[in-house]
Amino acid sequence: MNLKKEIEDIKNEISRELNLSTSKKEIENIRIKYLGRKGIITQKLKNIKHLKDEEKPLYGKELNILKLTIEEEIAKRGQEITKTVKEEEQFFDWTMPGDRRWLGHLHPLTTTMDEIVEVFLRMGFTVELGPDVETDFYNFEALNFPKNHPSRDIQDTFYLENNLLLRTHTSPVQIRVMEKIKPPIRIISPGRCYRVDNFDSSHSPVFHQVEGLYVDENVSLSDLIGTLDIFAKAVFGSSTRTKFVPHFFPFTEPSAEVLVSCPFCKEKGCSTCKHTGWIEILGCGMVHPAVYRSVGYDPDKYSGFAFGLGIERVCMPKYGINDMRLFFENDLRFTKQF
Ligand code: DAH
Repeated sequence: MNLKKEIEDIKNEISRELNLSTSKKEIENIRIKYLGRKGIITQKLKNIKHLKDEEKPLYGKELNILKLTIEEEIAKRGQEITKTVKEEEQFFDWTMPGDRRWLGHLHPLTTTMDEIVEVFLRMGFTVELGPDVETDFYNFEALNFPKNHPSRDIQDTFYLENNLLLRTHTSPVQIRVMEKIKPPIRIISPGRCYRVDNFDSSHSPVFHQVEGLYVDENVSLSDLIGTLDIFAKAVFGSSTRTKFVPHFFPFTEPSAEVLVSCPFCKEKGCSTCKHTGWIEILGCGMVHPAVYRSVGYDPDKYSGFAFGLGIERVCMPKYGINDMRLFFENDLRFTKQF
């Protein structure tokens, strides 16, 4: 009887205390008070050994049942409290440092592309976009690539089903624009290009270009040189020099590669320019008559120039980036720096 009464009293007391509790912390204190290492029930269980032998089993059993009941009640009350009162309202530490929210920003390639586009917009060019998935006609044929040209090889071009391919340069946009509108044309076209290539410090199977096209009557080679020289000075600084080196592209004649003086060492030679003092950033030339014919323009009436700028090639020396893979790996330690 004595034992039953004692257990009943403890139960009632715990229920009362639990009902009054309003936070997880208070409930935890109740648990410690009864079930902790020095808690009331724990002590009672320890004291069993001092009881008479015949009392021990009953006492032990009842106390263990009580212990389980208390654990259940504590858990139940804990759930009730979580439902009714939010933990943060219980305790808010105003001295804790806040969570830092990082502001997102543009990728360095996007910033460079925007900057390049901006320079040409100021010179009266407008932006035209073309598809990444192209046909052989736009990517090669209309641009005067011979049927057996090496870049048509599957080792260089990603071919898709139904005679489609991933464009290997932004030049097909020239054809799409000329098919659509008559001169004067002054457009640029930024976008992604794809080539079967290694992924190493200076190659990537996906990269970016800005294409340019200027067609009108009486457009000359000096217009091309002047335009690209202004561009280079705007992007790399007013003391930048440009060098036009003869080259070959099927869709321009004459053609050239353009190098800019290294913005780091000012032509003295450093690791950025591979100790040459110059960095190659684009290909250009006067549009080939065969290209005009493929879009139905009269080559005797119109002339013009075109160029294709590598955005990575502009971005890398600009920011001193020495590995192209960094652009595509999305490592925050890299992208956060811009
Ligand atoms: N499409 C060429 C390439 O990807 C770059 C280029 C060269 C574009 C000369 C042009 C150009 O428009 O006139 O290598």
